Amino acid sequence: MSIILDSPLDMHLHLREGEMLQCVAPLTARDFAGAVVMPNLISPVDSEHKLSQYRRDIERVCGQELFTPYMTLFFRPYRLAELEKVKDQVIGLKLYPAGITTQSEAGVTDFSEIEETLQHMQDLSIPLLVHGETSGFVMDREREFIEVYRDLAVNFPKLHIIMEHITTADSVEFMERYDNVSATVTLHHLMITLDDVVGGFMQPDLFCKPIAKTPRDRGALRSAVFSGNPRIMFGSDSAPHPRHRKECVGCAAGVFTAPVALPLLAQIFAEEGCLDLLQSFVSDNACKRYRISPPEKRITLTEKEWVVPELYGTVRPFYGGERLFWAVNRDGE
Ligand code: DOR
Ligand code: ZN
Repeated sequence: MSIILDSPLDMHLHLREGEMLQCVAPLTARDFAGAVVMPNLISPVDSEHKLSQYRRDIERVCGQELFTPYMTLFFRPYRLAELEKVKDQVIGLKLYPAGITTQSEAGVTDFSEIEETLQHMQDLSIPLLVHGETSGFVMDREREFIEVYRDLAVNFPKLHIIMEHITTADSVEFMERYDNVSATVTLHHLMITLDDVVGGFMQPDLFCKPIAKTPRDRGALRSAVFSGNPRIMFGSDSAPHPRHRKECVGCAAGVFTAPVALPLLAQIFAEEGCLDLLQSFVSDNACKRYRISPPEKRITLTEKEWVVPELYGTVRPFYGGERLFWAVNRDGE
């Protein structure tokens, strides 16, 4: 059995810099027509100059692949003139509460101080992508942040707000209530719960922010995605860290799913008997919600066994060393 996907998109991706960028970016660029690139570099992407430099670096390592990096700017207070200048170079601004995850120290500390920037974004139709977690108890962080989302959605009704990598039943329910709110869902949060991370031997490769939640939460995500909710887009949140930063004291957060994303998505959609809904999850919903037209790129997936490499460079991928039952057809294979 085979399935053809038109212009698959990854609406939330970490590509890093330097050698890591060189290692991971081509893996996404060969399977996807485009991806929304996160700005949480060591020095955050928060100026027009850093933005164009980062885009150039990405384009260089992706070579001839038909692939659009949809760039994001790291959210900080911006003046109207600054946003007017970058408007056509970004798909949105990514807001991190300060210190909530990897390289987010320069994020927002006081939400009452950002209203002017949000107003400019609304006026210029620049979407707001949000890492929605408080600094509360780890299992409650996303639920507690819903109050912030509600204020944003109500006070800026024309601002497109994207709840990134939602993991809870509450988030699904909240998102459905406001027309200006969308969400991304990762592959791993459709597949694992907290039990997979710490229920047996601890699995550093499955540790991420937001942490995987309960079976009920995963069930709510799966029901929403497998029923074809048009507000939900695929965003892998593929977040590579070298093995020595995962298997150590102070394990870095992030699951590296880029090389297995499409095969595993095909696999879980096929298991649910809803392969016909994969196209909208990995492309059409995003095109409509963001009003984008990615390059035309057809990716064929076939039911075929392969074993995921244990390592890509220094990074252990999701399902490393394990057998998958769907594969991306590659030219010449
Ligand atoms: O697990 C995560 N890793 N969550 C994030 O929000 C950031 C990401 C990263 O950059 O490593
Ligand atoms: Zn992320």
